[in-house]
Amino acid sequence: MYKIAVIPGDGTGPEVISEGLKVLEAASQKYNFKYETKVFDFGAERYLKTGKTLDAQDVDELKKYSAIYLGAIGHPEVKPGILETGILLNLRFSLDQYINLRPVKLYDPKFCPLKDKRPEDIDFVVVRENSEGLYKGMGEFKDKGSESETAIQISYNTRCGVERCIRYAFEYTRRRNKRKKLTLCGKTNVLTYAWDLWERVFNEVSEEYPDITTDYAHVDATTMWFVKNPEWFDVIVTDNMFGDIITDLGAMIQGGMGIAAGGNINPSGVSMFEPIGGSAPKYTGKNVINPLAAICALGMLLENLGEVKAAYAIEAAVIKIVRTKLKSLAAGKMGYSTTEVGDLVAESLLK
Ligand code: IPM
Ligand code: MN
Repeated sequence: MYKIAVIPGDGTGPEVISEGLKVLEAASQKYNFKYETKVFDFGAERYLKTGKTLDAQDVDELKKYSAIYLGAIGHPEVKPGILETGILLNLRFSLDQYINLRPVKLYDPKFCPLKDKRPEDIDFVVVRENSEGLYKGMGEFKDKGSESETAIQISYNTRCGVERCIRYAFEYTRRRNKRKKLTLCGKTNVLTYAWDLWERVFNEVSEEYPDITTDYAHVDATTMWFVKNPEWFDVIVTDNMFGDIITDLGAMIQGGMGIAAGGNINPSGVSMFEPIGGSAPKYTGKNVINPLAAICALGMLLENLGEVKAAYAIEAAVIKIVRTKLKSLAAGKMGYSTTEVGDLVAESLLK
């Protein structure tokens, strides 16, 4: 019996999560697994009512679950940063979800903004470090508000944190068993402390993986290759900030935020899966948002629980719906409503 903690969150989060749960129910019938869900009201609404983002008790409660399914966090009435750090980053850090796994896969060339790219050309995974770097929140103001003000923001990289991320990436590349190529994406030419460490650890660990081809690309060049030659990539490992940036570009070349999903993974703890697109406030309550990213996140969640067949079938159903039904992957332009897209995937799964 899987215990799934559901955090629908803000904006369109609840709408896409309810389509994901529809697909979860269909998958459990078809693939014979049992689950129970519990909904948690973390998000803007609770914050605006109580001033609470997330406390230690909430985190302890979540530790009892097999996985967490998250909609979106962020609200126009709450100052940017409060909910993001108080809830999303807090969960990633307190549950030590040190990997942010973001597959970039093109399901249908007609939704790719790049010319002449086929699904086999855009099929890679970004392994983003998820617990350190610039996201650590280290730094300070000096003489805040004065003419001579200085704001310092530190990128914090531990040997241990870097090594566990790089090891995960090598293992993942081996397990994925596609082109068996791992690219380190960094900035060794300028950020000479952080990326010196990353590069040394990458080279050391690579000795243990003779079956994996390794490569290095600066982060700026990586964005160029994403557009020009995405077929060069199989798995990319990078730090928290660079991973954040390049995966938004990755999402665009796979068809947009409507389809991009990610997992915040603690390989020996509780992992959390989410569509990466945010709360999209302007579409809230209109039944127009694309739920496929959330459905793909559910697929990742099930794969992580070991329900590999169900995960594979969900992806196949999504591919089928994308290729045969949808006019666009963008909100309001799909030719179907949010709930209809959820129905299509669930029906296709049960066939
Ligand atoms: C993401 C988001 C978050 C991040 C924000 C909302 C804090 O952009 O998951 O990529 O920067 O990690
Ligand atoms: Mn981001």
